[in-house]
Amino acid sequence: MTSSASSAPRFSRITGTGSFLPPERVSNQQLAQRLAERGIETSDEWIVERTGIRARHFADAGTATSDLALPAAQAALEAAGRSAADVDLIIVATSTPDMVFPSAACLLQRKLGVAGCAAFDVQAVCSGFVYALTVADSLIKSGAARCALVVGAEVFSRLLDFDDRTTCVLFGDGAGAVVLEASVEPGVLASELHADGRHVEILCTPGTVSGGQVLGDPLLKMDGQAVFKLAVGVLEQVARSVIAKAGRTESDIDWLIPHQANIRIMQGTARKLKLPMDRVIVTVDEHGNTSAASIPLALDAGVRDGRIRRGHTVLLEGVGGGFTWGAVLLDF
Ligand code: ACO
Repeated sequence: MTSSASSAPRFSRITGTGSFLPPERVSNQQLAQRLAERGIETSDEWIVERTGIRARHFADAGTATSDLALPAAQAALEAAGRSAADVDLIIVATSTPDMVFPSAACLLQRKLGVAGCAAFDVQAVCSGFVYALTVADSLIKSGAARCALVVGAEVFSRLLDFDDRTTCVLFGDGAGAVVLEASVEPGVLASELHADGRHVEILCTPGTVSGGQVLGDPLLKMDGQAVFKLAVGVLEQVARSVIAKAGRTESDIDWLIPHQANIRIMQGTARKLKLPMDRVIVTVDEHGNTSAASIPLALDAGVRDGRIRRGHTVLLEGVGGGFTWGAVLLDF
């Protein structure tokens, strides 16, 4: 860190975004056909009506989380006008890392062809990106880092039970990334993170590796209605809290980017915050729920199609297994 007190960067700011989806796009009709071969009944109509999802992308068996993270990170670096050598911190939010260890962040660092900077994973399931961004913001504000690569990347398809129609239709794979840099201008205005471990059972993948075997159930389990009710309540609370912390009001928000789990949760949150749906970035229809990747994927979509512009105020909100939730309010 080298800067004089008067011009010392006091904020962190997103300087570039990127994302990547694995090429295999599976429509609801295609998924319904695959499930029918297993004797499981579902339909495009049911999935669209209850979730807003029309398609998702699935990674092939040879593709790991760090493989999806790499092109997303490279696109974010290019957008920021940075190279991997400029990065002094890599955080990957994921619940589906390539290995038990080392972290997906270390594997991504190697794939980027750099070494030496700090690299670690954050595991907060669907809130992971908001957690990771808040950690990076804090490390930049403390002076410990100047140029962070913050990635959300998942191969959630690996956790799905394709005999359970209540969960397997909801999720997909992908990666999104941002470059977050020290800045004299904001940037991140306020953030807040929460967890309540009393709700572990409503959304979990309880298996573990021990003695060379998987012990317990390695597939995702969810009580959809319990998750739905909790999600709508905490998303409203945390949104109001970060907006107040930043001294802003709901009407200052140009774009809401909620975790992309279910269009009905997103509509409920927008309604409570009195935001019209045309100020909500929606990608759940084409991506499904990509857990920690969903927010940076949606952010990048909004930036690249020109809706989100420099100076816009953006509210990012995550919620997921743990139970975890959080929000980041920022000027883009
Ligand atoms: N196709 C057809 N029918 C289905 C399917 C399916 N894929 N899945 C469930 N059904 C049936 C059920 O069996 C049930 O049938 P029944 O009435 O004969 O018993 C009926 O549809 C209604 O089931 P519900 O579970 O009551 O449906 P609900 O309207 O609650 O929708 C859903 C389920 C979509 C999971 C919803 O609860 C939800 O979105 N919850 C939020 C969970 C979420 O988004 N999780 C993502 C991860 S967590 C996170 O990221 C925040």
